[in-house]
Amino acid sequence: MTQRPQSIDPADVPTRTLASGAQIPAIGLGTFGSDHVDGAQVAAAVLDAAELGYRHFDCAAVYGNESLIGDALQSVWETIAPREDFWITSKLWNDKHAAKEVISACKRSLRNLKLEHLDLYLVHWPFPNFHPPGCDIDSRSPDARPYIHAEFMETWGEMEKLLELGLARNIGTSNMTVPKLELLLRDAHVRPACNEMELHPHFQQPEFLTYLFENEIQPIGFCPLGSPGRPQRDRSEMDTSPLDDPAIRAIADEHHVHPADVCLKWAVQRGEVAVPFSVNPRHYAANLRAVVEDPLSHDEMQKIAAADRRCRLIKGQVFLWKQHQSWEDLWDENGVITPA
Ligand SMILES: NC(=O)c1ccc[n+]([C@@H]2O[C@H](COP(=O)([O-])OP(=O)(O)OC[C@H]3O[C@@H](n4cnc5c(N)ncnc54)[C@H](OP(=O)(O)O)[C@@H]3O)[C@@H](O)[C@H]2O)c1
Repeated sequence: MTQRPQSIDPADVPTRTLASGAQIPAIGLGTFGSDHVDGAQVAAAVLDAAELGYRHFDCAAVYGNESLIGDALQSVWETIAPREDFWITSKLWNDKHAAKEVISACKRSLRNLKLEHLDLYLVHWPFPNFHPPGCDIDSRSPDARPYIHAEFMETWGEMEKLLELGLARNIGTSNMTVPKLELLLRDAHVRPACNEMELHPHFQQPEFLTYLFENEIQPIGFCPLGSPGRPQRDRSEMDTSPLDDPAIRAIADEHHVHPADVCLKWAVQRGEVAVPFSVNPRHYAANLRAVVEDPLSHDEMQKIAAADRRCRLIKGQVFLWKQHQSWEDLWDENGVITPA
């Protein structure tokens, strides 16, 4: 018989303090089923992970499972701990960027999640380009367009209103670049509290992290394990996996843990918040435990820093806005926003 993993005292889980003073747990459970794990399984994992000590869940409207997660959260408040002990994030999907859609989209997520407020609401992507769930790599939104700052500021203005309305306690961005954030920081009344972005040992983005820390924006790392279960549209031949990295495997052997634990220790020790996904109790229990005990040494942190491959996995091709473009165009790699 497999043994039930031991729970962790949530008070032992590290937190990060946002510019607003809010405390966000440094690890949360991701809830994107990557088009192959159904909502009921994810919702069951949310309830069970709360029992094991998780106090942070990373949700999004486009994951298509917020209603089931909302039912699980109701059970969490009734049987495990009160709402105020938890951090719940959701995200505005790309087809709801129009000013008149933002507040109603947030209210829809709140209704589905059965919450009065979100702790964090993110603009999921800086483009209004929509793709249907489960699409393939060649899918394009028919009216796809580039980043248009004036339009993004209209969306952001509505995000700011969510704070006044008490529907979100913090607002933030996701999948941004430094040039886009520069404009947002110049023009926003309220700065983003967090930026959610791909971060793992094979895609470390050290310069971007420094920029965020200097501007008091908390980085939240998605795909912290290199997303071994990601959808087909996010796979390419040049991709590498941090879980197979020799340096990480050697450190994992030293600590008698799985390489996943090493990725998460590293993420949290470098100041990130990490949101690993799992529906396997053994995995999500180990992931939580990884960040509360047996930290990496300075030398091990340095070895992982040297293992960076600058390998972006979630390239975002489906958000491109014209023919014959390369995915690099989404990421402003020349240091300026890619022209239309
Ligand atoms: N803002 C954005 O645009 C964005 C984009 C992508 C993702 N996200 C968020 O980030 C979360 C995580 O991303 P992700 O799911 O793509 O990648 P990930 O967390 O790096 O990888 C998840 C995969 O790793 C496996 N896994 C988890 N713990 C493990 C362990 N201890 N040992 C071995 N395997 C383990 C899981 O399988 P099992 O279920 O079998 O454990 C799952 O297949 C998402 O759920 C979502 O909330 C946000």
